[in-house]
Amino acid sequence: MTKAILELSNVSKSFGRVHSLRGVNLTVRPGEVLGLLGDNGAGKSTLIKVLAGVHQPTSGDILWDGVKTNLDSPRVAMMRGISVVYQDLGIIPLLSIWRNFFLGREDEVSRKLPFHYQLRHSHMREVARGALQNLGIHIDDVDLTVAKLSGGERQSIAIARAVHFQSKVLILDEPTAALSLKETAKVLAYVREARNQGVAVVLITHNIAHAYEVCDRFTVLFHGSVAETADRESVTEQQLANLINTGTREQRRIAV
Ligand SMILES: Nc1ncnc2c1ncn2[C@@H]1O[C@H](COP(=O)(O)OP(=O)(O)O)[C@@H](O)[C@H]1O
Ligand SMILES: [Mg+2]
Repeated sequence: MTKAILELSNVSKSFGRVHSLRGVNLTVRPGEVLGLLGDNGAGKSTLIKVLAGVHQPTSGDILWDGVKTNLDSPRVAMMRGISVVYQDLGIIPLLSIWRNFFLGREDEVSRKLPFHYQLRHSHMREVARGALQNLGIHIDDVDLTVAKLSGGERQSIAIARAVHFQSKVLILDEPTAALSLKETAKVLAYVREARNQGVAVVLITHNIAHAYEVCDRFTVLFHGSVAETADRESVTEQQLANLINTGTREQRRIAV
């Protein structure tokens, strides 16, 4: 089994009296899609914010490549190679595709090509086009503004950006929530492609069918605790639904 790149060990997070996460254990491995499932309020967003350096655990450890670490801020997490695609995508609709692709990274390009304004722009266009192609996304005109793209295409740009800039862990928050069937199939294909290129992907969703289609493993949260972590082969879609709804593989909790 591949070694974990990112691991949570017995992580709890409280906001005053609200215990959002309770003793969570989680492993994320390169070349795998981990589905993070759970009902509303189960703790999914809190968990990804811990992984993204937005929240600090109240107790427990974070391990990066087997070594205990702190993710003190989103910047620290990003420098480690953790990318989060939130539902708003961090994309600016009125900018072109290539400008969005390089958003926040313009300085790196300027350092490489300091005096060549025109060259720099054609370089960025080429790189953006190539990175999209690399993932199987066919958009010829990278000068289009993102506002003209579909929801699935926007997701795909965010995924291609994370892969191109060598993210080790890519966290996707409900990437298929607002998409048509056809668009969903495409985005799931890009998720698989990112995994095949060695990225560790964490997919947050409450659509069990989408999760089951693409995830290698599942961790189900129930009221802030891990109900179960299971390989895809060892759990059915119905059992996942039960885990989400009752915290067990059974349809209903047995009354005690
Ligand atoms: N900043 C916060 N302050 C207080 N309570 C919070 C905060 N963030 C989340 N919670 C609470 O933590 C629990 C888990 O929420 P959340 O992580 O958003 O779940 P999910 O994303 O699975 O719907 C909820 O009860 C929520 O109200
Ligand atoms: Mg949430």
